[in-house]
Amino acid sequence: PPAKQLKIRDLSKYVDQRVKIYGWVHHLRTDGKKLWFIDLRDGTGFAQIVLTGEMCMTYEAATLYREAAIAVYGKWVKDEKGRAQGTFPGYELAADFWELVGPSCADIDMLFTKDSNPDILMNQRHLVLRGSKASSVMRMRSIITHCFREHFFDRGYTELSPPTLVNTQCEGGSTLFNFNYFEDDGYLTQSSQLYLETGIAAVNDCFCILPSYRAEKSQTRRHLAEFHHIEAERPFITFEDLLETIEDLVCDVIDRVGKKMESDMDTFLRASGGKPIPKLERPFLRMTYEDAVKYCREHGIYKDPETKEHFEFGDDIPEKPERQMTDEINRPIMLIKFPASLKSFYMQKCDDDKRLTESVDLLLPGVGEVVGGSMRMWDMDELMEAYKKEGMDPAPYYWFTDQRKYGTCPHGGYGLGLERFICALLGIHHIRDACLYPRYRGRIAP
Ligand code: 4AD
Ligand code: MG
Repeated sequence: PPAKQLKIRDLSKYVDQRVKIYGWVHHLRTDGKKLWFIDLRDGTGFAQIVLTGEMCMTYEAATLYREAAIAVYGKWVKDEKGRAQGTFPGYELAADFWELVGPSCADIDMLFTKDSNPDILMNQRHLVLRGSKASSVMRMRSIITHCFREHFFDRGYTELSPPTLVNTQCEGGSTLFNFNYFEDDGYLTQSSQLYLETGIAAVNDCFCILPSYRAEKSQTRRHLAEFHHIEAERPFITFEDLLETIEDLVCDVIDRVGKKMESDMDTFLRASGGKPIPKLERPFLRMTYEDAVKYCREHGIYKDPETKEHFEFGDDIPEKPERQMTDEINRPIMLIKFPASLKSFYMQKCDDDKRLTESVDLLLPGVGEVVGGSMRMWDMDELMEAYKKEGMDPAPYYWFTDQRKYGTCPHGGYGLGLERFICALLGIHHIRDACLYPRYRGRIAP
């Protein structure tokens, strides 16, 4: 009978049957001239292939290099010596025939090693992606994104697709990318929030998963110029509801990923370098901005470590001290009620202290800020005042302003940086490794 063409992940159901698999040569070992071991990778798993005798002595065999695409026929059997690694340790494909589909080149081993410097690795990202770690991270990213969607659909949200070419800013002019949009000026969106706010009166709770863009001048291990933004917006909620919504999102998604991983722990462990899924202590610690300033003052976290200048109310707590505090406390922190002067124009003020906003940043150990959210200003006059204070021309925002004119309501939402979340979940140090092809200052290729 003709051998059945299989993906490697399905091989376990075909023990002792003759099968055909396609894949790329991940690793090649020879044991003398007439016995070859190939770790074959097809993107669904790894399988050990054994080639013997004549099969090792053809011209194609002599010019077989790593990353060649091949087809192999043979029986999927228990490996008598029990040394086979891969997706199904202890099993191997005893080949009776193989053929070359697409050859590789002898220079493949000279392009980079896993210890090459990051710029070399990024230039070769299209090949680095084939590695077991990078490909596992990409598969985890797909699973995590899927879990976010499942969470939202399970909670009854509608997915919307706002435009990413826009003529308004959301998070301040200093990180806007602008471009010529035919006869007009255009920006790459910093956040879909303003558009999601217009969605609540149409579909109630809504979310989107789209790229956002920031012209970040500084290069850090958690800043990208293009990132995937998971944003949601809810009408008729309180600030307390918003905090619970964010906690529910993060915990539920991590639970979902954990459940999916029960059947594919291998991928998770490769992607996370062997670290387990973090357990998050609930409820998340809540800390006001003012208490964070106090914490820094009391724990020797300085605004300027050289002069030992302390943080004062109204100071932005930048990335490094924020992460130091989060790592010291070593559990998720909901940092709430930031001063209005530090936050975007649209944030609702606190009833009991008009200097402060109903805002929240979720900080996770290892990464720091992963989510930013707030209640939105829902009074027309207040919003007009806020435009003025920021020096913004209200004209391009008329559709956003109109939400306050036609049936305004209390509402709030948040944005979660997918790549930062992936870093926190998988223990990845640098955010570029959570992207297929990262974009940051100095890198727009490949
Ligand atoms: O805190 P941000 O700027 O908030 C907003 O954009 C709101 N409009 C979101 C909303 O309420 N709908 O960004 C939200 C999150 C951050 O917490 C961070 O995780 C991620 O987006 N983020 C970035 N991730 C990677 N690189 C960057 N340059 C990022 N800027 C923000
Ligand atoms: Mg933020």
